[in-house]
Amino acid sequence: MLTRRQFIIGSTALIAGAAGTGGYAWFIEPHWLEVVGVPMLVRNLPGELEGATLAHLTDIHVGENVSDAYVLDTFATVAAANPDIVVVTGDLTAYHPDVIEQAKRIYSELPHGRLATLAVLGNHDYGVGWSDVDHAAKLTAALDSLGIRVLSNEVVSVAGLQVAGMDDLWARRFDAQATLAGLDPAAAMLALSHNPDSADLEGWDGFEGWILSGHTHGGQVRPPFMAPPRLPVQNRRYTSGEFELSGNRQMYIGRGVGHLALQTRFLVRPEVTLFELGSA
Ligand SMILES: [Fe+2]
Repeated sequence: MLTRRQFIIGSTALIAGAAGTGGYAWFIEPHWLEVVGVPMLVRNLPGELEGATLAHLTDIHVGENVSDAYVLDTFATVAAANPDIVVVTGDLTAYHPDVIEQAKRIYSELPHGRLATLAVLGNHDYGVGWSDVDHAAKLTAALDSLGIRVLSNEVVSVAGLQVAGMDDLWARRFDAQATLAGLDPAAAMLALSHNPDSADLEGWDGFEGWILSGHTHGGQVRPPFMAPPRLPVQNRRYTSGEFELSGNRQMYIGRGVGHLALQTRFLVRPEVTLFELGSA
């Protein structure tokens, strides 16, 4: 039987614990960026890219919920790595009526890769209902004007590495088959696709290599020792990190830089990934 004193001490400890956890999830972890280094072995990699650094950012969600100062600090961290290639795999923004002006201001500070600075859009970049094509076109034009090349189902060559940028699945614009139609099977290749579920769809024939993705935020909040309960994907394997896929494909899902809705992360720190390219 608890005494009144034991009850008060126990209750106070519980409340303090909950408040401490909440404070951590609100004030600390959402801005506690982890820079993750990952080797990326690529078949037929051009010699010029041996040892090159590719910085992967995803789900930055510039908007009303993510601190501009935190995003700019993140960009400074990326700049310090002197990346050869910078890629952003979607959800660059979280929609509000003035988000394009805000995006212009913030993305003017995105460090550029020595060789290329590329992006694909995510569902949040398509505005309300993930379907505002005019909004996405304006955002694309704004980013392009800053030297950030937005790929919409198209392939560019970066020093001989073919980079295939897929448009977004939930915006109903994803088309692997059309994107990959002109791919040279004998040359190195890499794909950018916001939503990892897109890797399970048809159309990837002829593509062998890495797919860089995001969208899940790693679940954003995860109870200790458990899988994240909220994942916006059909394939529940796709949390975050590296996955071996069929057809000699590998996927890497970044945990994201920003967050959605509430400024909360718990046991899923935000991430920037620095890939070091090498020959497979
Ligand atoms: Fe996102």
